[in-house]
Amino acid sequence: MPETPVTAPAVDRLSFPPGFLWGAATAAYQIEGAAAEDGRTPSIWDTFSRTPGKVANGDTGDIACDHYHRYRTDVTLMSELGLQAYRFSLSWPRIQPGGRGPATFAGLDFYRRLVDELLDAGIQPVATLYHWDLPQALEETGGWTARETAERFGEYATLAAEALGDRVALWTTLNEPWCSAFLGYGSGVHAPGRTDPADALRAAHHLNLGHGRATAALRAALPAHTQIAASLNLHQVRPLTTDPADLDAARRIDAVGNRIFTGPMLSGGYPADLLADTAHIVDWNTLVRPGDEAAIAAPIDLLGINYYTPAVVSAPTPGTAAVNHAHGESDHSPWPGSEDVNFHLPPGDTTDMGWSIDPTGLYDLLMATSRAHPGLPLVITENGAAFPDVPTEDGQIHDHDRIDYLHRHLAAVHRAIGDGADVRGYFLWSLLDNFEWAYGYEKRFGAVHVDYTTQLRTPKASARWYARTIGANSVPVL
Ligand code: FCB
Repeated sequence: MPETPVTAPAVDRLSFPPGFLWGAATAAYQIEGAAAEDGRTPSIWDTFSRTPGKVANGDTGDIACDHYHRYRTDVTLMSELGLQAYRFSLSWPRIQPGGRGPATFAGLDFYRRLVDELLDAGIQPVATLYHWDLPQALEETGGWTARETAERFGEYATLAAEALGDRVALWTTLNEPWCSAFLGYGSGVHAPGRTDPADALRAAHHLNLGHGRATAALRAALPAHTQIAASLNLHQVRPLTTDPADLDAARRIDAVGNRIFTGPMLSGGYPADLLADTAHIVDWNTLVRPGDEAAIAAPIDLLGINYYTPAVVSAPTPGTAAVNHAHGESDHSPWPGSEDVNFHLPPGDTTDMGWSIDPTGLYDLLMATSRAHPGLPLVITENGAAFPDVPTEDGQIHDHDRIDYLHRHLAAVHRAIGDGADVRGYFLWSLLDNFEWAYGYEKRFGAVHVDYTTQLRTPKASARWYARTIGANSVPVL
């Protein structure tokens, strides 16, 4: 009998698991505008962006994408993209002016209307409690360097949960506390612009404690099926060589970049090597009070990972200043205790942020995180890229560089899932071009282009590509 040739069906697409959640993300200060409306008080970003020299071109979030007034149009855009979920952040000073006392009706009402609009469109709302816009009044009493701020954050979480908890089934507490602590209080390139390594470490602990308090508050107020996560910008740290000194540099950056958060949140406490590396800067024994680590360890249902680019590091070389200006230039290091570690830009393509394009970094990060925290599902709460995006004469944006970035990163996610990582969803950063912190409106991350003069929204080619990806629950084989 002639043998029947066994041919595998041609696989031309990489399919994601059924139920994989496709979304896009934004943050309040980056898109809302309406900075002084309906009782909102200033946040540290209002103050910082008004401080000369802090934000490119003196840009502020006063108007941004005017999403506060245009949210209905924006939800329609989301529907057109076929988004299944939308991750947005709640503005603390809009909900609870000054960070203390009762909530304002108008502030909560905005988010109630947004959530209703999303649900009507069949889009799952995903709310982040804190995406960097601390009420300025709380900064005046110490900001995140003050333990009190963590307690206030827990109270604010209760207000948000009571208002929205019946309709928002997935919450993230903090967005990228590393940036809040170390760019906000260490290198000073983010609000509030302080540059004291001890303050940065204090802020990190109080952000952790705030996460613990908020998680407890959400659990107490929300229905049992509600899922709670934190979004961390875990650094995928690579030593430049296998030289022990480079390996130690990588260990140090992993400690103060990642394990300072995952340690107490997920692994039972602050790692001993972090405490040793930073003991000369802060007295951890007085900073961390009895019960703090247990509070921070309040169980979460998912871990949110924000990934853009890896960190390639080597040992300090005498006479060489450490270079790590990923989020803006500063003479102050965002790495307390490891200030002299060198950072390297790997060869290859970069985005408009100057960040190297490295999908393997995402694969490695997902695999390493899965191995470190087995049983904890992961969700990519941010991934995306800035490119110049110059519209052509027809007004369209042919952002093939962004499509390529998304495609390669999604292929990496697919590979990680195939190799056992439990990744439940992917949120593109960002739905819209928006206020990119210290870079103002210079950097465009949106799948949808925003003309800041007219507020016209134009979906880019990448938006259409992403819509097809969502529709097919797959990307083409690379
Ligand atoms: C992340 C932030 C987000 C955006 C992207 C580009 O660090 O969470 O707000 O700025 O970077």
